[in-house]
Amino acid sequence: MKNILILNGPNLNMLGMRELEIYGSQTLENIESLCKEESVNHGFKIDFRQSNHEGELVTWVQDAFEKVAGIIINPAAYTHTSIALLDALKLHPASVPVVEVHLSDIAQREDFRQHSYVALRANHCIAGKGAQGYVEALQFIASALGDTNG
Ligand code: DQA
Repeated sequence: MKNILILNGPNLNMLGMRELEIYGSQTLENIESLCKEESVNHGFKIDFRQSNHEGELVTWVQDAFEKVAGIIINPAAYTHTSIALLDALKLHPASVPVVEVHLSDIAQREDFRQHSYVALRANHCIAGKGAQGYVEALQFIASALGDTNG
């Protein structure tokens, strides 16, 4: 079993209540269930987490060092501000694929959402596909790791 860390940043615990016209009605629990279903197809064991605290996310990325085969991260607002999160992700060797996910299409939104620090380490970014973006991120990691089912 390959371990995959799936991290969610601030305010994503409020999905299903938060700006429904932008983020949709799926809750974070729904997204976790979708990820669990998809992970079975690839022999992945997922560790799905959310935090409103930048330092906690950084610590989780550090703790995953040499323990995970891939990382999926929706850094939420920290996408656009956090060099600390970028630096933590850079701890992981290039053999560990990192996928940045956004529910909304950040390219079509405000100017301040146009820059992503996390993108400087991410191998792939999926935005604007809602919860399906997480499923596609798992599929991307599976193929990056050479899974023929991916
Ligand atoms: C988000 C986009 C970010 O700009 C925003 O701060 C979020 C969610 C998304 O999933 O679309 O909180 O990462």
